[in-house]
Amino acid sequence: MVPPAARVVVLVSGAGSNLAALLAAHAAPDFGARVVGVLSDDPGAGGLDVARAAGVATAVVRPSDFADRAAWDRALADAVAVFSPTLVVSAGFMRILGASFLSRFAGRVINTHPALLPAFPGAHGVRDALAYGVRVTGCTVHLVDEGVDTGPIIAQRAVEVLDDDDETSLHERIKTVERALLVDVVGRVARGDLAVDGRRVRLG
Ligand code: GAR
Repeated sequence: MVPPAARVVVLVSGAGSNLAALLAAHAAPDFGARVVGVLSDDPGAGGLDVARAAGVATAVVRPSDFADRAAWDRALADAVAVFSPTLVVSAGFMRILGASFLSRFAGRVINTHPALLPAFPGAHGVRDALAYGVRVTGCTVHLVDEGVDTGPIIAQRAVEVLDDDDETSLHERIKTVERALLVDVVGRVARGDLAVDGRRVRLG
């Protein structure tokens, strides 16, 4: 008998190409994960259209609708909890998840970042790597803790920086690699292949 698919909620702020890759993968019964909801902080996020086109439920929780960050964080957690997720995936979600959100979904939140952490955390990982002059950068999928891109690393892939790269061209090449990595990691985590020992993470 095939075990039930893990329920995945995806958080997006942008175009949603990582979300689209997950939606393409989740149709396969042996993938082990199913995207059941997509949430955004921005009603204009392209990722919401990607979700709607796939028939996946969406919700928007805007920071400007709340008195402070803590209230928004609680509301976001409530909106995610509606979908009873086994896994929450931050895929281009440009907000820091706070203590109440993370305690609610402890150890079950993963993020994808367009740089080789711990180098170049934050909102401009590609721009910062390019400005620094690194010859190799890449992407990181990691567990989320309360810091900015500081959680235990699950998997990384390297991408070479070309002489004529600008932020857009480099980010596009990273995203091609990133999508495949995220799909692989989400599938393996959903199938129970994740072993965490402090900061050391192994995918079985
Ligand atoms: C991805 O490259 C993701 O790593 C990045 O935003 C992009 C979203 O693309 N996230 C961050 O920079 C977070 N610090 P998408 O909307 O096409 O999936």
